[in-house]
Amino acid sequence: MYNNEQVKHFQQLSHKWLSNKGDIHNEIDELRDLLRFHEHRYYVENDPLISDYEYDSLYKVLETYEKKHPEFITKDSPTQRVGSGLIKDFPKTQHLVPMLSLENSYNDEDLQDWDRKVKELSGLEEVEYSVEPKFDGASISLIYENDLLVRGVTRGDGETGDDITPNVRQIKSIPLSADFSKHNISQIEIRGEILMNKINFKKYNDSLMEEGLPPLANPRNAAAGSLRIKDTAIVRRRNLEGFLYHVSFISPLDKNNKISIESHTEMLKLLWDLGFRSPQKEIKKVKGIQEVIKMINEFEKERDNLPYEIDGMVIKVNQLDLQEKLGITSHHPRWAIAFKFKARQATSKLIGVEFQLGRTGAVTPVAKILPVHVGGVTVSSISIHNEDYIQEKNLKIGDQILIERSGDVIPQIVKSLTELRSGEETDIDFPKNCPICNHTLHKTEDEAVWRCINFNCRAQVVERIIHFVSKDAMDIKSLGEANIRKFYELGLLKDVPSIYEFDIEGLKNTEGFGVKSISNLKDAIEKSKTQPLHRLIYALGIRYVGETTAKTIAQKITDLFELKNKTEENLMEMEDVGVKVAKSIYEFFHNEDNIALLNRLKSFGLQMEGKVHEKCEGGLTGQTFLFTGTLSKMKRSEAEQKVEDHGGEILGGVSSKLNFLVAGEDAGSKLEKAKKIPSIKILTEEEFLNMLAI
Ligand code: IVH
Repeated sequence: MYNNEQVKHFQQLSHKWLSNKGDIHNEIDELRDLLRFHEHRYYVENDPLISDYEYDSLYKVLETYEKKHPEFITKDSPTQRVGSGLIKDFPKTQHLVPMLSLENSYNDEDLQDWDRKVKELSGLEEVEYSVEPKFDGASISLIYENDLLVRGVTRGDGETGDDITPNVRQIKSIPLSADFSKHNISQIEIRGEILMNKINFKKYNDSLMEEGLPPLANPRNAAAGSLRIKDTAIVRRRNLEGFLYHVSFISPLDKNNKISIESHTEMLKLLWDLGFRSPQKEIKKVKGIQEVIKMINEFEKERDNLPYEIDGMVIKVNQLDLQEKLGITSHHPRWAIAFKFKARQATSKLIGVEFQLGRTGAVTPVAKILPVHVGGVTVSSISIHNEDYIQEKNLKIGDQILIERSGDVIPQIVKSLTELRSGEETDIDFPKNCPICNHTLHKTEDEAVWRCINFNCRAQVVERIIHFVSKDAMDIKSLGEANIRKFYELGLLKDVPSIYEFDIEGLKNTEGFGVKSISNLKDAIEKSKTQPLHRLIYALGIRYVGETTAKTIAQKITDLFELKNKTEENLMEMEDVGVKVAKSIYEFFHNEDNIALLNRLKSFGLQMEGKVHEKCEGGLTGQTFLFTGTLSKMKRSEAEQKVEDHGGEILGGVSSKLNFLVAGEDAGSKLEKAKKIPSIKILTEEEFLNMLAI
C-alpha cells in the first residue's frame, strides 16, 4: 500500500507533528493522512512505526481542532469512527448480490472431484487456483460509494442482512474511505470476515471470568456477538479486525472505460493497495489441484501459530472470466470450494454433574462427559459455570452434547443436541447446601452463582491457600497444590496465616520431606514476606480484584489498612474500579474475620506498605515496558526507574499487556516471544532513550 518513499515521508511528518510544528489550520488533511498511515501500519500491516502514546497525541491534536471547528470535519476523518454512542436498531437491508456460502470438502478426493468438474466445465486441462485461509469469524459485506464507506451489512439470510455500519466503523483495519475512483470504480461491494484475534479473545474471556461470567466457546462467537452490540464504544474496545477476500459487485465511474482486473489475486492486491486488509501474505496462486493439496497441508501445520482462528482453506478459480463462465448453483459458486480442517468440535454424552467449590465459596457445576478427543486433548469434564448457563444451554443429564475446544481455550459446551433426546434424560438439580460443609447456599440478586458463605468451609480455606501461594500472588514455589492439600489434611495448615507459623521442622518425619526440601520451603516462605503490596492484595483473593486492579490499588495507598477507611465512592475514584469491585473491596475490609487475618499476616512481617506513586508528569503514562538483554548506557534498574519517573509501568513478563520491549545486547527468549505478539513494539536502547527525550 505505501512504498518506501511514502513511509519515509510519513515518518518525517510524524516528527513534524509530534514536535508541534504542523500548522493544523492549513494542513489538517496532512494530519488526517498521517493518522490513516499509522492506522494502516498498526491494524493492517501489524507493524506500527510509532508508539500508541504518540498515535494518541496526534489523534488528540486533530480531535481538539475538529471540536473547535466542526465545519472542517470530513466523513472519513479518523475521528469519525467514534459515532454517537447508542444505536437504536439495525435496519434490514438488501445485499447488492446475494451472499452465498461455499461448498465444503474434507479430503483430497473431494478436492480432486471438484477439480475434475471445473476442468470439464471449462474445457481446460489444468486450472490456475488461488488458495487462502478460511477465516473463522462473522461474514460481512461492505459497500463503498464515491470512495466512502456507506454501509456494512451482516450476512442475514443471504438476501438481506442487518445494517451494522456504526459498528463496522469501529474496526480500524476497515478504511472509511479509499481511492476507488482512481481505478474507475464508483460503487463496490466487498465481502470479508470480521474476527477477534486469539490474544484479544483471551483477554475478553479473562475479563468475563473475572466478572464471574461464563467465557465464550470461540472467537467466532465473540466477533459475531460484538458486532450486534448497540453501543459503539463497547464495540470499539473489543478490537475487532477485518479480512476482505471477495468483490461481489463493482460498477464503473466511466461506463466506456473497462475496469481491467482479470484475476482474484489481482483483485485482492488492488484492495490491499487501497488500504484494505486482504490476505496478501497468506494467499498463494498455484497450478492444478495437486499443488492446492500441498499448500493446504503446509498451511494446516501452521494453524496454531496464526494470530487468528481459521477453520479451513478456500480454493478459488483465479481467472475472473472463468469464474463467470462456471457460474453459481442456487447455493454456492461453482468456482470456489472450502476445505474444512479437522473439527475442533466433537459430540459426547453428559453423564453427570459434580459441584466444586472455589475460594470465594462459589459453587461451580462441572459436567462429567464420556471421554472424547477434541482439538488434540481428551476431555472428560467441562465447567458448566452456573445455573443460568445450564438453563440457557438447556442441559440435562443423559444429553448428547456438542463440545468445542478452540485453540488453547478451555473446552466449552456449544449446545445440547435436544433432537436426540430419548425422554430418559434428567434435570440437573442444583444443591441447596454446600457439598463440602453442608452450610445453606446463598445467591444474591445480581449474581448467577450460588455461594457457600461459611468462611471456614474446608474447601474454600484450601482454595484460598492455593491462590495465596500461587505464582502471580505470593509465589511460594515449594508449597504446591498437592502439599497444601496434604498439610491441610494433616492439620498443619489451617488457614492462610498459618503458612507463616506452622512447624516446618516437624515435616522431617513426613514422607517425601528431607533436610533440603524443608530448608527450601522455609526460604520460600520467608522470602514471600517481602513480596510487594500489590501481590499481597491479589493474593487475598478479594472477589473481582485481579492482578491489574491489585496494582492500581497498591499504587494509591501507603498502607493496606487504609482500605478499611475508604468508602465505596472513594474506591471508585481509582482507575478500573467500578461499582462491583468497589463493593467487594469495601465488604472485604468491613469483615472482622478478614481484618483479623490481615493483622496476623502483619504480625508475621508481611509487607503491608506500598509507595504512593506521585503522578509523574511523563509522556509514558499508561504505557508498559519490559527490559531484556544487557543495556550499554545504564543499568537495568536505572532504566526501569526512568520509565516509572515518566509515568510508565514495568511488567514482569512478555504478554499482550506489554507495549514496549526494550531489547539490549544478547536478548533471548523474551525478545523471541515478543516478536510473535504484533502489538508489542520492540525498541533498541537508543530508541528508548530518544523516546524519553520527547
Ligand atoms: S469466499 C461467493 N473466502 O466462509 C463466495 N469465504 O462457508 C464468497 N469465509 O460465506 C466467499 N474465509 O463467510 C470466501 N477466504 C474466504 C473466506 C470465506 C471465510 C466464509 C464466508 C463464507 C463462508 C462459507
